This record gives sequence, structure tokens and C-alpha cells, in this order.
Amino acid sequence: MQHDEQVRLIKQLCAHLDAGTNEDAGGLRRLPTATFTDSARSEREWNEFFMATPQCIGMSGDLPEPGSFLTNNDLGIPILATRDQDGSFKAFVNSCRHRGAIVETEERGTARRFSCPFHAWTYDTGGALVGLPKSEHFGDVDKSCLGLRPLAAEERHGLLFVHPDPEAAIDLDQLLGEWFNDEFPTWNFAELVPLTRQVFDTECNWKLAMDTFGETYHFSVLHKNTLFNGFHGNVQCYDEAGHLHRMILCKRDIDAMRLLPEEQWDITVAGLPVYWIFPNVILLPLDAGCFLVRAYPDRNDPGRHVSRVSFYLKPSLAAMGDEMTAFATDIAEKFSHVIRDEDYAMASSQQTAANSGTLSHVIFGRNEPALHHYHNTYLALLGLEQLPLLDEASVTNTM
Ligand code: FES
Ligand SMILES: [Fe+2]
Repeated sequence: MQHDEQVRLIKQLCAHLDAGTNEDAGGLRRLPTATFTDSARSEREWNEFFMATPQCIGMSGDLPEPGSFLTNNDLGIPILATRDQDGSFKAFVNSCRHRGAIVETEERGTARRFSCPFHAWTYDTGGALVGLPKSEHFGDVDKSCLGLRPLAAEERHGLLFVHPDPEAAIDLDQLLGEWFNDEFPTWNFAELVPLTRQVFDTECNWKLAMDTFGETYHFSVLHKNTLFNGFHGNVQCYDEAGHLHRMILCKRDIDAMRLLPEEQWDITVAGLPVYWIFPNVILLPLDAGCFLVRAYPDRNDPGRHVSRVSFYLKPSLAAMGDEMTAFATDIAEKFSHVIRDEDYAMASSQQTAANSGTLSHVIFGRNEPALHHYHNTYLALLGLEQLPLLDEASVTNTM
């Protein structure tokens, strides 16, 4: 983030702290709880936000060298992503062109060749079919036509995007817009080193998981023994640009930092940026690295989702040796467990209410603007009616 923008945001946080204010959405909105239970809605989200939208499958550091690969089946599309010999990022359907078996079964690693476990058809890191055993018996097929089926893949600003539809192209400018291109390069995400990866299979809709990142109103209550020790609750900055929005959560370290000259101000000391990348990605850049959170629906159960929470460490810290790595791993896992044990525990209990059908709506407050934006963004993309902005009185009267 540019330093002048950091200073602007830090001043905004200080102003909120001094005045006892927070961002104000200008009103409240009510959201039907069927949003989290309706199978027809879920199917539309699946088709439009997941099957028809480029997906972030990781960061550049997940494919650190030529021959590095990772596999992914989060959307029921088997994906093999590789760093090709020339350093380029590639992605393929991880299904053999012979009879469709999964070619690479490991989650990640390094390989020059991928050999199918069924009959050993073999592919290179660029997806070309380079080995077909006993071809004189199988048939003299044209190997050049039978490489792994490519998927559109693009690496930008340290993030890896793949389109799960083999027929589709990626348009990251359309997905992410100018803001992404201006601000994301300043974080140097491409240099980060993967450190921890956790998977949380949770009994809540994927959007409820996303919602837990959308406000700090809950910090002094839900996180009173954890995050609230390091953060001021119920104060944040909030900005949006198209599909994206960015919050800055307010760290208690701002209290000492604001006394320093502005040239020494650092947004990662004063706060925690939270970027929401449509549809299912939360990025949290820290002074030590970055958390990447991805939430995947269960196609057959709107009340369940899987979150992947990964932490990537700055290379300067990774180079400091085992002690630093162990320390950073411990911190990253503790933070991930706050997400699992506190935030996602609430998301599951919200899902229980939604499943019971006993509450028709829930309410987003004036101090939860990211939730207003998030829900109205996907409603607009589905061509559905926006949640209207309400004043306090009309919320009371319509409940
Ligand atoms: S299915 Fe892969 S080699 Fe036969
Ligand atoms: Fe939280």
C-alpha cells in the first residue's frame, strides 16, 4: 500500500478512536436467513460464482520452482497446477486423456513428469503427453493431441488464479479492477513462503464464514480473551471498489505509533488490512506475511462449507532459521484456531438458526458496512433485488 494511503487510513483510525466513532453504512439492512439454506440459491451460486468465475488456488510461493506442482479438488474439478520449466504458471484438468483417472494424486511436490497410476500415460509440466506405453499395442494415436486439458491460468501480484471451466478465459481486470492492480503489487505477495495450511470443515454456509471477517463489532465480546488483547474493537476503515472491499482493523499498537513522525507510520503496525476478493477469498497482509482464507461451498449442502486457511511468511523471516519458523508457525496456528474456534463456531450457530426457519431475517448494523456490500454485491451479480437501506425505526417495525 502506498505510504500516503497508509497515512490517510491511520489518521482515519485515530479520528475514530478519538471521537468514539466507527464507519457508518448510513443505515441498516435485513437479510433473509434463507440465503444460507436455500438449495436453489446455492446451485446458482455454485454455477455462477464458482464454476463460471476464476478461482484463487494459492500464492506464487506455492509453486516455488520449475517442476513444482499442486493439485486441487475443492470444486469437484480435479486441477493440476504446475510451474513449467520456463517458470510460467500452468493449470490442467488433472484427468488422464486415456480413460480419465486422476494423474497426480499428491497434494503438492516437485516433478518433471506426471505418470498416470492406471496405465502410465505420462505428461510433462506443460501438460504434453510424452509417454504412452506399448503404443504399438494400444494404437498409433497422435500424442500431440492428447495432452492434459488446459485450464486458463494467470499469476498476478503473487496470486494464482485458475478458471475451472476448460472453455472459459480469465479476465482478472474484470474480476478485480484497477484497485487490485494499483495496490496489490506493493505487498510483494509473490515473495512469500508458504508456512501453514489448515482445513476447517464447518457446518455453516460459505457466506457465513465470509461474514465473520466483515466487522470488528464482535471483537470485545467473541474475541475478548484473544484478538481483543491486540485490537481495538468496533473501529475500522472501510473502502470499496467494484467487487472488492478493504477494511483496516485497528491494532492497539496504533496508540504508540501515532506519536511517531508520519514517515515512520506503517499500516501493518497500526492495523490489519482485510481484503475481500470476490467471491470467496479473504487476504490479511501482516507485518510478518499474509493469511489467505478461501471458503468453498458444499454443492449438496448449503449448511456446510470447507475453509482453507493458509499463512505465508516473509522471506526475510523464513531465512532466519528454524526457531523463527517455529515461532511464526505457532502464531499462525493460534490465529487460525481463533477463526475455527471462535468465528466459525458463531457461523455454525447462525446456521442452526437459519436451518430451523424460526428467524426470517438477520440484521446488519450501521457499523457493518462490509456485510452490506458483500451481500448486495453477490445479489446484484445474481440479478436479485438489493437489500434496501433502512433506518432504525423501520427495522423495528418490520421485524
Ligand atoms: S487412465 Fe491414465 S493411463 Fe489409463
Ligand atoms: Fe472474528
